[in-house]
Amino acid sequence: MPLDLGAKGSCHIGGNLATNAGGLRFLRYGSLHGTVLGMEVVLANGTILSGLTSLRKDNTGYDLKQLFIGSEGTLGVITAVSILCPPKPKAVNVAFLGCPGFAEVLQTFSSCKGMLGEILSAYEFMDAECMQLVGHHLQLASPVQESPFYVLIETSGSRAEHDAEKLSDFLEQVLGSGLVTDGTLATDQRKIKALWALRERITEALSLDGYVYKYDVSLPVERLYDLVTELRARLSPRAKHVVGYGHLGDGNLHLNVTAEAFSASLLGDLEPYVYEWTAGQQGSVSAEHGVGFKKKDILGYSKPPEALQLMQQLKALLDPKGILNPYKTLPSQA
Ligand code: LAC
Ligand code: ZN
Repeated sequence: MPLDLGAKGSCHIGGNLATNAGGLRFLRYGSLHGTVLGMEVVLANGTILSGLTSLRKDNTGYDLKQLFIGSEGTLGVITAVSILCPPKPKAVNVAFLGCPGFAEVLQTFSSCKGMLGEILSAYEFMDAECMQLVGHHLQLASPVQESPFYVLIETSGSRAEHDAEKLSDFLEQVLGSGLVTDGTLATDQRKIKALWALRERITEALSLDGYVYKYDVSLPVERLYDLVTELRARLSPRAKHVVGYGHLGDGNLHLNVTAEAFSASLLGDLEPYVYEWTAGQQGSVSAEHGVGFKKKDILGYSKPPEALQLMQQLKALLDPKGILNPYKTLPSQA
């Protein structure tokens, strides 16, 4: 399955498609816009739009299924899908590393692409506060020395020895050059799972920490962590934690702030600051999570008015009575 994500135990494939979920292997297998080959959708008027093909190429006019991926149920209800599934990798290795700074996280990524590019299947990062939270709330112990940043690298290939050799050459290089200060490797399933848990369960740990303000943005990687640093200074000491983690290989930051309870004044310091900052970098204010109720009026930070107007027109065409997931995803006013 080309899509994998922390919510795998409870999410549904229809919802994954409707929200265009990105997840942990995006770096390797790309977006659902590429891996979905066919789809069946029920339209607002009850028409079944059936397109359950598995053809790789099909240029017979508009690619209508793309409209429904990421539409959050506002244009139709996805009832079946055909997905391009890659062969299951024969060899999977995971490295968990500690980095002394964010510049080193970025340089390790460049080095990783250069040395492991063809087998790389994930490049995830988390900061020291994330590690504290999974330690404190979920009793997960760090497998490496305490560091300002941690990186999880996964390779998926066809020959275990070949991949292990490449990974150890890479580790030797990044440890030798000081980009990485400590690291551990896993090839067996149990340890791989334990390393992934540190990253996948951050969101769960955050929800145990208090009220959580959540942001999911796409940014140029070089500036990605600056937003976290700036917010930490801006909010301190009113926030309990300001954390940054996410899918670095995809330029996707999850920025979360926790506090004892919801506070309108804290929210006022977060928004529109986070959105303006993101727009200033030509980033996206909703990278891989949904728009829903909460973000429908901030799309203008990342999309021109003409695009928003066309979205409204498509909605009016496909759901003239506004019965599909009403009041969500589209701006209140065009
Ligand atoms: C993650 C979810 C929050 O990456 O998207 O953990
Ligand atoms: Zn994510």
